[in-house]
Amino acid sequence: MFVVLLLFWLGPVYSHSEPVQVIAYEGDRVTLPSRRNSTWNLDRIQWSIFSNITFIATLRRGELATDLFWSYTGRLTLNTTTGDLHVNDVKKTDATLYSVLLMDNGSQENHKVKLKVRDRLPVPNVNYTVSPIHEGHCKVNLRCGPRREKLAIRWNSTGPVTFPSLADNSSVLQAELKEHSTANFTCIITDEDRHESSTTQVSCKLKERHRDILAFFAFFLGLFVGLVYGGSRGSQVTEVRQDRVSTE
Ligand SMILES: *[C@@H]1O[C@H](CO)[C@@H](O)[C@H](O)[C@H]1NC(C)=O
Ligand SMILES: *[C@@H]1O[C@H](CO)[C@@H](O)[C@H](O)[C@H]1NC(C)=O
Ligand SMILES: *[C@@H]1O[C@H](CO)[C@@H](O)[C@H](O)[C@H]1NC(C)=O
Ligand SMILES: *[C@@H]1O[C@H](CO)[C@@H](O)[C@H](O)[C@H]1NC(C)=O
Ligand SMILES: *[C@@H]1O[C@H](CO)[C@@H](O)[C@H](O)[C@H]1NC(C)=O
Ligand SMILES: *[C@@H]1O[C@H](CO)[C@@H](O)[C@H](O)[C@H]1NC(C)=O
Ligand SMILES: *[C@@H]1O[C@H](CO)[C@@H](O)[C@H](O)[C@H]1NC(C)=O
Ligand SMILES: *[C@@H]1O[C@H](CO)[C@@H](O)[C@H](O)[C@H]1NC(C)=O
Repeated sequence: MFVVLLLFWLGPVYSHSEPVQVIAYEGDRVTLPSRRNSTWNLDRIQWSIFSNITFIATLRRGELATDLFWSYTGRLTLNTTTGDLHVNDVKKTDATLYSVLLMDNGSQENHKVKLKVRDRLPVPNVNYTVSPIHEGHCKVNLRCGPRREKLAIRWNSTGPVTFPSLADNSSVLQAELKEHSTANFTCIITDEDRHESSTTQVSCKLKERHRDILAFFAFFLGLFVGLVYGGSRGSQVTEVRQDRVSTE
């Protein structure tokens, strides 16, 4: 213990005062780089927060500890070769200044990492309406959400579509889709570093499909009625018809 302490005080210190910045998203796994001197075999690693007061992960005399502070319990992995600290399932409260002390045979280095944590990007949801076919096309109105501060919304599409007006960063999109065709509209929510997208398929065949469904049901309804009445109670049907004819 005494020897270790003596070496700690007597060894040369290589300190880098500029913190490196790392950006992560909530829920991510992020790596805080130790920036060790690659010629070193680390015999001591100490990651801390709150200006060195609180150790969160350490390697000391071959003993690895990563559950030292309650708010990081079960979420830290320390690479004892590189000194890098991996934080799983990043939380907003992890955003702070980290400090790492590295030692090799009495020499020591100290580095800092500033972690910024961004909100997880929302998955876009898209609602749309399609007008009936008119003059060879349907009008499609799409709305994408959620709208968030600092996040931009972009659209992309494939298929026979045209856009009467196209605004940047707009949550609504108006498009014209050629009749009897299908298009895919993609809404992209982005903060310029990352994006989340959601694709919606829209058809300009609404009337036809309605007509088909109606015809389908009418056919089966007719078949059903025909079977029931035509089979067992054929004579009653004629009676009813005769009644109605006579009352009119
Ligand atoms: C790495 O450590 C060695 C001593 O172990 C030192 O001579 C060298 O300057 C260090 N390199 C850097 C980039 O700090
Ligand atoms: C942490 O301790 C090192 C020396 O052990 C020192 O150089 C550094 O400034 C300290 N960091 C903070 C944030 O106080
Ligand atoms: C530590 O990092 C090195 C270099 O990236 C890698 O080869 C090694 O597998 C890692 N060790 C562990 C235990 O993850
Ligand atoms: C450790 O440091 C001492 C004194 O600086 C030196 O004599 C010794 O060779 C070093 N050992 C290793 C393994 O680097
Ligand atoms: C889409 O409709 C659902 C249900 O009506 C609603 O909860 C959601 O907010 C709508 N999304 C957009 C982008 O308007
Ligand atoms: C897009 O709109 C959002 C909300 O209105 C705004 O916060 C963001 O800065 C805009 N982004 C761009 C690139 O214009
Ligand atoms: C839009 O879609 C086209 C075709 O799939 C693709 O090449 C292009 O990269 C997409 N643009 C964006 C911004 O996603
Ligand atoms: C739309 O997407 C579907 C499913 O990914 C694909 O099968 C279809 O070809 C796409 N249509 C167009 C017009 O890009």
